[in-house]
Amino acid sequence: MLVDRFGRPVTNLRISLTHECNLNCFYCHREGQTLNFQEMSPEEIERIVRIASKLGVKKVKLTGGEPTVREDIVEIVRRIRPYVVDLSMTTNGTTMNILGEALKDAGLDRVNISLDTLDRNKYKEITGFDVLPQVIKGIKKAVRLFSPVKLNMVVMKGLNDDEIWDMVDYAAQNNAVLQLIEIEVPREMENSWFFKKYFYPLKPLEEEFQKIAIETKERRMHRRKKYFIPTKYGTAEVEIVRSMHNTVFCANCTRIRLTSSGHLKTCLLRKDDLVDIVTPIRNGASDEELIEIFKKAILMREPYWK
Ligand code: 5AD
Repeated sequence: MLVDRFGRPVTNLRISLTHECNLNCFYCHREGQTLNFQEMSPEEIERIVRIASKLGVKKVKLTGGEPTVREDIVEIVRRIRPYVVDLSMTTNGTTMNILGEALKDAGLDRVNISLDTLDRNKYKEITGFDVLPQVIKGIKKAVRLFSPVKLNMVVMKGLNDDEIWDMVDYAAQNNAVLQLIEIEVPREMENSWFFKKYFYPLKPLEEEFQKIAIETKERRMHRRKKYFIPTKYGTAEVEIVRSMHNTVFCANCTRIRLTSSGHLKTCLLRKDDLVDIVTPIRNGASDEELIEIFKKAILMREPYWK
């Protein structure tokens, strides 16, 4: 088991498979990726996951860009399946209707689908593409195949904050879990026009949920709470992701990242934390050497908000 200097065990690996995306959401943090070198091959990804699993990583999340724009996405899922307890993917859902079954057969356990709005025009405004109907089809397919399906809604002031309760209903109606996410930016961007214009603090809503929930549960990862909210369509399961200035969130982070260019990365919001692991692999490094690279990256882990 890997534990960092702050006593935080590392049990989750979030792998960005590509920088490419078929949508262009204006607020996207691109998983903190700045480099755009050659992508890792399925063999390289498998090797890194195998090493990570030896070191105690149990959960892997595949992300991007959009992970399903990779033509070898099904092969990647199939290769890493044997090494992990929980294998999930964050996707924009545009390809789920076509790829769902193949991903399921390859061993994917569950998916998170980004859905900021149920309004077709707003969807186009946010993502640059008029594909909401296709995404809705993808969500319906995902719900038939996977459990749980989580819907990621980044809440933005004046843009989609008026849709929160519709989304709670939609989640209940469609058997999905809703994740309401605050916009997240690094410190140096807190004064940007973008952040000032769109940041919508979710703390007041969380307090309201606390009152009306018929049940709450706490997740280990980031100590996030789940709220079970009654709606006219039955109970909705809602999670709130508030990371900005949240020291509890960081103190309970169990995640390490792998960028699409093959670098371990300790935190979404940091820029000085990349440890190249794919170049040593390409130069013939042994498993022992790769384990040392993981340990070096773990030592660099530090809570961003502390
Ligand atoms: N702040 C918060 N969440 C974001 N996402 C993308 N950019 C941001 C941001 N700036 C979310 C998307 C997607 C997930 C991978 O990250 O909703 O579902």
